[in-house]
This record gives sequence, C-alpha cells and structure tokens, in this order.
Amino acid sequence: MNIAVLGCGTVGAGVIKLLMQNREAISKRAGEEINVKKVLEKDKDKCRRLGLPEESICTNYAEIVDDPDIDIVVELIGGIDPAFTFILEAMQKGKHVVTANKDLIALKGRQIFDTAEKMQVDFAFEASVGGGIPIILPMKQSLAGNQVQEVIGILNGTTNYILSKMSQEGRDFDEVLREAQELGYAEADPSSDVGGLDAARKIAILASIAFNSRVTLDDVYVEGITSITARDIQYAKELGYVVKLLAIASEEEGKIQSRVHPAFIPLTHPLAAVNDVFNAVFVRGDAVGEIMLFGRGAGEMPTASAVVGDIIDISRNKVHDCHARIGCTCYEEKEILPIHELSSQFYIRMTVKDRPGVLASIAGVFGNNDVSIESVIQKSSDEGKAELILITHLTKEENLRDSLMILRDMKIVGAIDNVIRLAGIRKGDS
Ligand code: NAP
Ligand code: HSE
Repeated sequence: MNIAVLGCGTVGAGVIKLLMQNREAISKRAGEEINVKKVLEKDKDKCRRLGLPEESICTNYAEIVDDPDIDIVVELIGGIDPAFTFILEAMQKGKHVVTANKDLIALKGRQIFDTAEKMQVDFAFEASVGGGIPIILPMKQSLAGNQVQEVIGILNGTTNYILSKMSQEGRDFDEVLREAQELGYAEADPSSDVGGLDAARKIAILASIAFNSRVTLDDVYVEGITSITARDIQYAKELGYVVKLLAIASEEEGKIQSRVHPAFIPLTHPLAAVNDVFNAVFVRGDAVGEIMLFGRGAGEMPTASAVVGDIIDISRNKVHDCHARIGCTCYEEKEILPIHELSSQFYIRMTVKDRPGVLASIAGVFGNNDVSIESVIQKSSDEGKAELILITHLTKEENLRDSLMILRDMKIVGAIDNVIRLAGIRKGDS
C-alpha cells in the first residue's frame, strides 16, 4: 500500500512518525506494508528532519496525483484550497482519501462524498472531529442500529482549557487567554476557537452523521465564550453548574437543531468533569442509551492516531476488495430548526435598581411573555443597585428575547449583564 502525505506540519509529521514507530504491528493489522511513497511539503526541511529519503519529498502535486502506484492520499495541509482540488483530483484518479480537515468537510462535504461515491473510493475523516477520539466511525458503524436523539460535545480544547482555568482559579477571560497563548495552548489568532467556529464545523459533521441529513456550517447557530466572566462562573458554581462551550445537535419531530454556545451544565453531568484541553462527545441513542467518548481532541500524536486508523482501515478494504462500503450516510433531507424556535432554560444576570416593586415589575414582564421563573437570587450593593440572577423554566427562545427587549428599555434596569443557556438537563428533570 503506497500512500502520499500532503503537508508535513503538526499532524503530517505525527502520521509519519507513528507509521515508523509501530511499523510492524501496523503492517500486520493492515494486511500489507504501508509505504510513505511521497510527501508534499513547501518546506522540504520539515520532511528531512523526520529522516524521509530525498526522493520521497516533493513540492509538486502532479508527482502524486499522476502516480498510479499511490493508493491513498492523506490530506493534511488544511484549509479549503488547494486541499479541496487536491482531494477531488485524487478521487478522480481512483485514489482513496484520508483527511483531518473539518473546515473543508463542513463546507464542501457533499461534493467530496458525491465524487467518492461516483469513483467508488474510500473517504475517511475520523481525525476531523475530536482529534484522537474515535467518533465518526463508531457513529457510522457501531451505533448504526440506533436512532440518535442528541449529540453534545466539548469539541474545542482551547476554550475548554480557558473555561476550566477560569473556573478553577476565578480569573477573567482575557487574562487566561493571554496565559494560554504564552503556554502554546491557544493560537496567536484564537478567534475561530473562542468565537465557537471551530466547534461549529465539528458539530456540523457530527449532526450530518447522527441524523443522516447534510448539516453545513451555515446551519449551526454559533456563540463564543468571550462574554463569559468570572462572575458568571462563580454563580454557576453556587447554583450547582459548570460553564462549558457545548456543541449540541438534536432531532425533534424530524427537524434538526445544531448550535454552539456556552452553557451551564449540571455538575452531575458526565461532561462537567471534562477539563483542560480534553474533548468529549456524549451521545444519546434510543437503544444504547447514553454514552460518552473522552480524550485528546488535538495534538500531533492523538490526531495521528485517528489518521493512521483510517489508513489501516482502507488497507484492509483493499486486501478484501471491498471499497466504498461506508460512504455518505446523508440519505435524507431534514429541515433545520431555527434557534428562535428552540426551548431552553436560561440563566440571566442583570443589574437593577434596589427599591420596592422592582422584582415584581421584572417578574411581570417575564410572565406577560410566557417566561416562567424557576429561581431568583438577589445580591444588593451599597449603591442602591442589586444584581439579580434568574433561572427560567423551559422557555421558547423568542419569548425570552421579547422579554429582554422590553426589560432593556425600563428605567429600573441598569443592564442585562449576561444570558446563558442551560443544557444537559433532560426534559422532565426541571
Ligand atoms: P500545520 O501544522 O499548519 O501543517 C500543514 C503543513 O502543510 C504546513 O507545513 C504547511 O506549510 C503545509 N502546506 C500547506 N499548504 C501546502 C501546499 N499547498 N503544498 C505543500 N505544503 C503545504 O497544520 P496541522 O495542525 O498539521 O493541521 C493539518 C490539518 O489537520 C488541518 O486540516 C487541521 O484542521 C487538522 N487538524 C489538526 C489538529 C491539530 O492538533 N493540529 C487536530 C485535528 C485536526 P506552511 O506552514 O509553510 O504553510
Ligand atoms: N484548535 C482546536 C482546539 C484544535 O483548540 O481544540 C484543532 O481542531
């Protein structure tokens, strides 16, 4: 089995190292030896440092795509173009493709799957969600007998690290982000991590598999963690919750809802114990019940673990001459439920005037908009102000928005400081 690796960066180097490190065991498991025939990389020194022979290093993709002896193209350059073109060209030449590129799948998944099906080649992308955590194949294969009801993921290590530190040390977002960048846990440009976009791409992929209907990035409602303060995290603790950036996909009455936002989850929920850079995916299926997969969602060797698993799987298919066995599983076209039609419980923190009748007026606005309050905490200050922390019962998102619009214009309300959804609570539990 001859493979070509595109990109010798973090993951590409990890894949090459792992294939060398476990060479003998991998050959036995794959049914034949896996030979890295070519590596495409702009900076050839990156490949030389791994001890790759000079003749295997190239900068021109034609040397790979036009080589009939290369069976698998492992795309690890990232981004949309030229990765998309490279993948399609490889498939059109009958080559199987492995990738870790969630950006590309979340955007162009349909065209890639269509080409793979037409050409009867394998397309494997386990590393694109949750790094080293096996979740794509388990959902397509081991859980295929279930109707999946809900998938909840902690799918971004950077934000989980930041929220964990804020929670453990009572510090604010900006300070912890700066420290995470200094330690190399957060990228120099962390916007797609802290803004929720990275997790949104991953949940789009998982939702498509879970509900057998294509969900793209545009279908995912996205909110990041930049507005979360140490104060919100403190109140979460007092109330028995922890704040996490959750990626959630669910299906109700044939409609799919997918979203990424910070959420209060009960301390008793298995996802509440997932801290630091770790990722986890919690799945609820009608037969299996609740399961959770946990591990490292990024990094050189964990991500290489998933990529090499895919390479071995394709080799096994070759040995048994049974390619394109599990292709695209999006055989339905389900409607996307817009976020304003969703019902959630909410945490609301607001600053109000501390005088008689204020609480009654606020409760009146919520009541008039069909928002029912589950609990209220009031903390008064010396300056005639009070901080109100409210938890609502299950509420339709648009009813909450209507209430907040009215409240923002009331003189007794200084500010709506934050609104955070609650999640991980089963209907009937609240
Ligand atoms: P990376 O470290 O930036 O590696 C990509 C490498 O490909 C770089 O050396 C880059 O060179 C090279 N490259 C880019 N375009 C090229 C081209 N047209 N021709 C030749 N070489 C090219 O990225 P990475 O972190 O390994 O990520 C690779 C993929 O894995 C991405 O899709 C990412 O989303 C995914 N992924 C990464 C992780 C992780 O932990 N890093 C986890 C899960 C998934 P230059 O640097 O010179 O551009
Ligand atoms: N930047 C991502 C994270 C890893 O922080 O989890 C790559 O998807």
